[in-house]
Amino acid sequence: MALRSSHWYAGDDRNSYLHRAWMRRGLPRDAFTGERPHIAIANTASDLTPCNSHLDEVADSVKQGVWAAGGVPLNLPALSIGETNVRPTAMLWRNLAAMATEEMLRANPIDGVVLLGGCDKTIPSLLMAAASVDLPAVVVPGGPMLTGRFRGVALGCGTDVWRLSEEVRAGTLSREAFLESESSMIRSRGHCNTMGTASTMACMAEALGMTIPGTSGTPAPDSRLLERSHDTGRLAVELVREGRRPSRVMTRASFLNAIVTLAAIGGSTNAVVHLLAIAGRLGVELTLDDFDRTGSGVPLLVDLQPAGRHLMEDLFRAGGLRAVLNEVADLLDPSAVTVTGRPLTDHLAGAEIWDDTVIRRRADPLLPDAGIAVLRGNLAPDGAVVKPAAASPELLRHRGRAVVFDSVEDVHARLDSPDLDVDETSVLVLRGCGPRGYPGMPEVGNLPLPAKLLAKGVRDMVRISDARMSGTAYGTVVLHVAPEAAAGGPLARVRTGDPIVLDVAARRLDVDLPEAELAAREPVMTGHARPVRGWERLYVDHVLQADRGADLDFLTGSSGDAVGRESH
Ligand code: FES
Ligand code: MG
Repeated sequence: MALRSSHWYAGDDRNSYLHRAWMRRGLPRDAFTGERPHIAIANTASDLTPCNSHLDEVADSVKQGVWAAGGVPLNLPALSIGETNVRPTAMLWRNLAAMATEEMLRANPIDGVVLLGGCDKTIPSLLMAAASVDLPAVVVPGGPMLTGRFRGVALGCGTDVWRLSEEVRAGTLSREAFLESESSMIRSRGHCNTMGTASTMACMAEALGMTIPGTSGTPAPDSRLLERSHDTGRLAVELVREGRRPSRVMTRASFLNAIVTLAAIGGSTNAVVHLLAIAGRLGVELTLDDFDRTGSGVPLLVDLQPAGRHLMEDLFRAGGLRAVLNEVADLLDPSAVTVTGRPLTDHLAGAEIWDDTVIRRRADPLLPDAGIAVLRGNLAPDGAVVKPAAASPELLRHRGRAVVFDSVEDVHARLDSPDLDVDETSVLVLRGCGPRGYPGMPEVGNLPLPAKLLAKGVRDMVRISDARMSGTAYGTVVLHVAPEAAAGGPLARVRTGDPIVLDVAARRLDVDLPEAELAAREPVMTGHARPVRGWERLYVDHVLQADRGADLDFLTGSSGDAVGRESH
């Protein structure tokens, strides 16, 4: 079968000369004779994405593997998004990164691709791109960082920033101690070491079949990551030779396996949005309700922050994702094939748990049924999500008075005021923070608790918003309310003082008011002004709601790997 890259390099005419001549630069002559697959390494290394800054070294090992298997490796810098730096929110740029990578893969003489990601949005954007081009593709997750310690206590990235800063606000930790902990938080290269979004999406990539099984969760500084990177480079060449494409790997069965995995690891709510977006690129039928149907009933086995105690290094030492999946192997669909050409379930034999305080056994789960609960009601007609594992059990059924905030600025201005009319039974509502409203659906849903309640010892309250929350955060937080307030969702009609009823067991989220009264109110469509130009304008005009993965409407589906018209 002719390689795709042959459309550029084969022949003896002016144009093939042109394509070859500029690419030679020391490449051997037989790089262009049509036998050696050209493998792009879509590399999100960037100094401004600190979690991915080591990926050039990973890319070097991938290259060695590609060469060893007879391919030609080519570095392709990919748009990189650093979760902690990028404003107004990294999520605003996920679709842009996906679009840019998709287009560059299609436009170039490439036969297959190795995707290098780590920080939250990078693996999702790479998978969305790969799904839409459908070139043979495989992921190497950059891996979590090692555990940092402060005053003898392990620090969880993200999770402990939220916890320690609340301790400062509550007056139980000095600001000096808080700032001293700063240099201990990030001990090594790699992404956040909690079961936040980066760790979750690495596990999702593996559960979808898009990594060599056993790769995800390998700590970034661990030599075994480079070994796996070498193996992945070799595999990429095989993928091209076998014609094994993402559409064959990421089937509905793989997505359902990913949902089971998400529940068993206690993964981030952000995975819901990302998996829906990836499925949308493949035309795989996947809905919000699949998360609830397939995920609830799955036991929570991984005792990692924010739902539990440990960190990613512990998970790897305890046996890693394969050991977790082996415990729930009966819940996985054996028909879902991985990049190896064999089913995911084939790769689980012999995966042992070495520390069952980190990976609990099936008979002794942390929670008998975990997963993501999908709520509906007159406040969220198209759905909202809550992660019971990260919530306070006593708040999962709750009735309280709404305290409504129209923006994060409004939260900052009023939350700590001694005059704010709020108590621990109140329900904090934040709106105007959805995909269109912010814009970009930032991680502000876990809004802080009012200082006066913190001082009283309150550590959790029901919070509701159209935003997301960091995968490293915790609390009884209802997120992704759809439609969002800025799209005219019912959240826009709630007022301070309204009785809100949350009933997670019944999967309901309602405001206890007559429908007519609600409908008669003028909606408060807060949010940012419509951007005048550029990406933000395109984004706001085309972004889908959270229940559709917050992709752009014209980016759903696939354009395949069609070779464009000649450039000269
Ligand atoms: Fe990059 Fe957490 S900030 S993974
Ligand atoms: Mg995050």
